[in-house]
Amino acid sequence: MYRTKKCGELRIENVGEVVTLAGWVQRTRKMGGMTFVDLRDRYGITQIVFNNENDAELTERANHLGREFVIQVKGEVAERSSKNAKMPTGDIEIIASELNVLSESLTPPFTIEDNTDGGDDIRMKYRYLDLRRNSVRANLELRHRMTILIRNFLDSRDFIEVETPILIGSTPEGARDFVVPSRMNPGQFYALPQSPQTLKQLLMVAGFDRYFQIAKCFRDEDLRADRQPEFTQIDCEMSFANQEDVLEVFESMARHLFKEIRGVEIPKLEQMTWHEAMRRFGSDKPDVRFGMEFVELMDVLKKGKFTVFDSAEYIGGICVPGCADYTRKQLDQLTDFVKRPQVGAKGLVYIKYNADGTVKSSVDKFYTPEDLAEVKEKMGAKDGDLVLILSGDKANKTRTQLCTLRLEMGDRLGLRDKDTFKCLWIVDFPLFEWSDEEQRLMATHHPFTLPNPDDIPLLEEHPEQVRAVAYDFVCNGVELGGGSLRIHDGKLQEKMFKILGFTPERAEAQFGFLINAFKYGAPPHAGLAFGLDRFVSIMAGLDSIRDCIAFPKNNSGRDVMLDAPSNLEPGQLDELYLEIDQARVDAVTKK
Ligand code: AMO
Repeated sequence: MYRTKKCGELRIENVGEVVTLAGWVQRTRKMGGMTFVDLRDRYGITQIVFNNENDAELTERANHLGREFVIQVKGEVAERSSKNAKMPTGDIEIIASELNVLSESLTPPFTIEDNTDGGDDIRMKYRYLDLRRNSVRANLELRHRMTILIRNFLDSRDFIEVETPILIGSTPEGARDFVVPSRMNPGQFYALPQSPQTLKQLLMVAGFDRYFQIAKCFRDEDLRADRQPEFTQIDCEMSFANQEDVLEVFESMARHLFKEIRGVEIPKLEQMTWHEAMRRFGSDKPDVRFGMEFVELMDVLKKGKFTVFDSAEYIGGICVPGCADYTRKQLDQLTDFVKRPQVGAKGLVYIKYNADGTVKSSVDKFYTPEDLAEVKEKMGAKDGDLVLILSGDKANKTRTQLCTLRLEMGDRLGLRDKDTFKCLWIVDFPLFEWSDEEQRLMATHHPFTLPNPDDIPLLEEHPEQVRAVAYDFVCNGVELGGGSLRIHDGKLQEKMFKILGFTPERAEAQFGFLINAFKYGAPPHAGLAFGLDRFVSIMAGLDSIRDCIAFPKNNSGRDVMLDAPSNLEPGQLDELYLEIDQARVDAVTKK
């Protein structure tokens, strides 16, 4: 046996026992004739004592142990004279009688402690060392606990887990596909699933009734703190279910997780329409932990007095409580903040309703004190409050900018507490959204989403007005999950493809299998997928989903530890009938 106990389990009751422990040397300290070693494994840290008086040769060997050496130690559990109340094992220590070095270690490039001195890049390059740190390991342990709870919950509701393939054809979820060349089918490619969407629908046609999968998904899109090219979904689908049924199951699951993991009771979720969310918060994933809701100011400020507002399609403001004392410098900073290209506003108008009743604004030249008093009333502002206003020629674009400003002010005022959880459903999404890039209507969720039956007459003439029977699960301003009722009528599905600009030939080539399957008795079905990485991050209060993924990619989509992606050997390329256009590669990589 390598060990009889683990490093986190010995207590005062164990005093007198002879034990064997194994683990990594966290730290050694020499004090007079004694050498103390903190021995660490996944379960904790135990202090080992080597005493010159007991065994000088053994103590001398302990003096040569370096950080992160892997050792095995035998000794007797003893009560410590100076106890450490901060450590679960802080009442005891092991008086060593045997030492066995199992493996030596180079000096690690950063300290393996909660507050490490290692920067992001170096920690990712040596991720196996980073994963030795308590904080990082704890995130993965939490992830493990969550998946166990999820599997058990869904099993108790009759969902069965089915694995779907990774090498498939394209599944459109709005991102680019990652593709894999096929050696056996020259010139042809598999696509990695952006989600198991079409496959889970086929499982419903197959009569599986309730399916789930903790599924790997792949999307070639720009990365952000809450996006990885390879991520995991809790993917679910159910037959003979309407929106209410789906929301009940997944709201219950989320509530169960919050209760088990964080000990919090989540009240019944509010359902907010997409339109209302945009109007009140400028986002389809509103953070409702705090107020500062938008107030539209078109009628009070569009009065032929200020050309910027007169030409605007939208003017909206937020009332920031108690911030009328913001200095010129702070207001300039906020203006710069909204003018950054990532936000894209042209400028920011402020009105300070000072605590002493005076009013100071950046538009004093254009508006009378009465006008500003009218704004105050409309905003529900009090003396001491700061009103921030944005305007623009595209209403939803301006709302999105105002949303970024609202979140910034929420951060500054400490209103976005990571231990408070506010969840809600966003419902009634538009079925389509206009893509500037593609210059056409795109499916907001995906092409299999059921249009609201009341809006079907609008499909041909006013597709932009059609609502989808689709819903997102939002928590603290993060979209944790999304889903919809599906089209199960082949004819309606064909119509959707047509509106989305698919020729019948392309629809047949890409989705013929699904349209065909629907000809053999497709049950009405619906589903949803949660992003597991995002769910774990919210539970753990992380800033980036990377911190709960064992081996994540960096912002350029690279695994710096494995140095992937990388070039292929010429022979491999040849086997796959591929040729690299080196001149083009050089042109883009030199940029
Ligand atoms: P959707 O595209 O909304 O829906 O994805 C579902 C959830 O997956 C998570 N997610 C991501 N997490 C990390 N990195 C990414 N790049 C990433 N992209 C998405 C989000 C999101 O809410 N097939 C549909 C679901 C359905 O209709 O049943 C789908 O994939 O948390």
